[in-house]
Amino acid sequence: VAEGREQWSSQYGFLLAAIGSAVGLGNIWRFPGVAYENGGGAFLVPYLVALLTAGIPILLLDYSLGHRYRGSAPAAFRRLGRRFEALGWFQVAVAFVIATYYTVILAWSVRYVGFSVTEAWGEDPAGFFTGDFLQDAGATVTGDVVGGIFWPMVGLWVVALVVMLLGVRRGLEAVNKVAMPLLVVLFGALVVRALFLPGALSGLDAFFTPNWSALLDGSVWLAAYGQIFFSLSIAFGIMLTYASYLPRRSNLAPTGLVAAFANSSFELLAGIGVFATLGFMAVAQGVGFEELPGLTGPILSFVTFPEIISSMPGGPLFGVLFFLSLTLAGFTSLISILQVPSAALQEKFALSRRAATLVVVGGAAVLSVALYSTTSGLAVLDTVDYYVNNFGVVISALLMALLVTYGARKLPELNAHLNAFSTVRIGLWWRVLIAVVAPVLLALMVATAFVDRLSEPYSGYPWTFITIAGWGTLALIAVVAVVLSLVRWRRPVDDLIP
Ligand code: PHE
Ligand code: NA
Repeated sequence: VAEGREQWSSQYGFLLAAIGSAVGLGNIWRFPGVAYENGGGAFLVPYLVALLTAGIPILLLDYSLGHRYRGSAPAAFRRLGRRFEALGWFQVAVAFVIATYYTVILAWSVRYVGFSVTEAWGEDPAGFFTGDFLQDAGATVTGDVVGGIFWPMVGLWVVALVVMLLGVRRGLEAVNKVAMPLLVVLFGALVVRALFLPGALSGLDAFFTPNWSALLDGSVWLAAYGQIFFSLSIAFGIMLTYASYLPRRSNLAPTGLVAAFANSSFELLAGIGVFATLGFMAVAQGVGFEELPGLTGPILSFVTFPEIISSMPGGPLFGVLFFLSLTLAGFTSLISILQVPSAALQEKFALSRRAATLVVVGGAAVLSVALYSTTSGLAVLDTVDYYVNNFGVVISALLMALLVTYGARKLPELNAHLNAFSTVRIGLWWRVLIAVVAPVLLALMVATAFVDRLSEPYSGYPWTFITIAGWGTLALIAVVAVVLSLVRWRRPVDDLIP
């Protein structure tokens, strides 16, 4: 290696970056809605079970692979066994695809910081979002670029490029050291404000009132596992890559536990903040929660919140806090996804950081602008997101657990590694979860999603559209993974290991 392997300046720097990656759009806009739809307060039970039985164990697996094999996903899996390199590239490709659309949502957030001040959405935030703003043409593919999305996307890609060029320590770590404390302050202020809104308590009531019968519903459990996977950023190379930049002498398991705990705390905080705010709206309009326009995903953030902002004293400031939080949380996640392909190219093709960054960020930028800054962006984004998360990430986690356990038979070795570099002992329970529990659950998740998607097109989109945008994307990811794994290493992979 020309430059020598990069490293975090300290374990604390790594921890902050790991939390920065985990805390993202998923915490703020995904968790509250998922929890509400899946039993409210009772959802916390499957959520905790999912965290303990799959989230934390796989997070530790990511850490141990990255730290032991000191490499990007392809390098680490290659060290596990020649045939396993393709899984590394699969994770790289998944990360790359996610990066291309994650930026779009960030671009919306940036725009909505400004819109909050001017209340640009006027009387009809729903019509404004899909109409004036996105100019959504539905499930067709068009080449009509929407300037209001194009330019913020370009801006974000330029900033991301600069950060990635600066590298692990001066780029990624430095950004997280500023952004994460700032995020806590901004979002903390938002939650406090929300709790003092009239009606806040009724919102919390709606959020936390447990519907215990939900626990008997299998889909609720699957939703909990899905949320945990997405939320912790596990099984698509991010934590593996980040852990590979840890100093040799590190305390792995406690660091992982702190990161996971911080992520879940932030998620809970977001649930409280969001539902307190929704409570205000429900009371102000004298309606029940079921009648609110939408509690999930883009609708929650870009339609419901604008509506609330318009009707609240001090709304513009509240809006700025909310969308700035979304932007900060999302940006620190974006740079973590970009590091996955960047590290992989640096290692496999003996590229400098600068060259790899230009290829990855440049490529992702062009693709993302081409695909998503047009009037067909929303449907494509929605479909790709669903397929990549419900199939790509879950299949990757499943393969990872199986390959490590039964293919390479390295689970005991990795367990020993964790224990050699942790002040807490990771025992047999960890191996049982990775070898048996996680694979069973993950297989169940894939199977369920598969059956669902064969019986009914996702979100009612036309079959041709789904086939191309959904299955097509997955197929492309798989092909790219296999092809790249067959290419010769430009430098011996074993050089990576000190
Ligand atoms: N963990 C992030 C969140 O909760 C999601 C994420 C997805 C992060 C992809 C990085 C990459 O929003
Ligand atoms: Na998260």
